[in-house]
Amino acid sequence: MKRIVLLGPPGAGKGTQAVRISEKYNIPHISTGDIFRANVKEGTPLGKKAKEYMDQGLLVPDSLVCDLVEDRLRAEDCANGYLLDGFPRTVFQAERLDSYLMSQCMQLDAVVDIEVAPEALLPRLTGRRVCSKCGATYHMLSHPPKAEGVCDVCGGEVIQRADDSEETVMNRLKVYEAQTAPLIDYYGEDDRLLRIDGEKTPAEVFEQIIEAIGE
Ligand code: AP5
Ligand code: MG
Ligand code: ZN
Repeated sequence: MKRIVLLGPPGAGKGTQAVRISEKYNIPHISTGDIFRANVKEGTPLGKKAKEYMDQGLLVPDSLVCDLVEDRLRAEDCANGYLLDGFPRTVFQAERLDSYLMSQCMQLDAVVDIEVAPEALLPRLTGRRVCSKCGATYHMLSHPPKAEGVCDVCGGEVIQRADDSEETVMNRLKVYEAQTAPLIDYYGEDDRLLRIDGEKTPAEVFEQIIEAIGE
């Protein structure tokens, strides 16, 4: 049983690590960013609203996020824990999560903060490519797909995320500093925060995370 939150700035490697962590502990990977992107792709009303904010690198309003996550956490596959990637992202969301957990007599087992210096984030994000079908993550320089534009895992088309243009990335980094970085203090006040050096290789980052969380 593990209930884990992954914190870290855009491009820290949350998604990259989440795939490995969720496999290791056999818990669902819940990424609010992925949920919104799926809604945008399907053209749902939620997707249409979320897109207005995502395209500008702004956070989707808390009112559109919190109920959605709570509903997801009530699903059967969350009974043995889960990995939250990209939620909470504001102090309001963190407080909502804590009060939801308290109402269920539950608590988080770990909050993992993946630390990467700001100057390393821009090249990671502008060079990122993702599979439009299965979501696998690549990087033009450090981890390109074997055949250009084709996903190694599923053969799907590898594309650039809409919010990975330099201009939007700069906004996302500002929004992170203003609205999400305060969560480091929020969780740092008790013993839940595990600080991880995110500037090692993905395999080394994963090792540190497992060591910090425990079996
Ligand atoms: P979201 O999808 O959560 O984006 P993000 O937080 O900006 O984070 P990213 O997915 O960009 O980065 P990542 O840390 O997952 O890095 P990755 O592993 O891909 O959110 C998108 C938008 O949705 C938000 O802007 C907002 O509008 C909205 N949203 C989502 N959740 C919300 C919420 N709770 N409230 C309100 N709005 C919300 O890696 C990045 C690159 O680096 C890749 O190319 C990868 O190959 C490479 N890389 C990874 N690890 C390493 C390593 N160790 N060394 C070198 N390169 C590496
Ligand atoms: Mg991600
Ligand atoms: Zn794929």
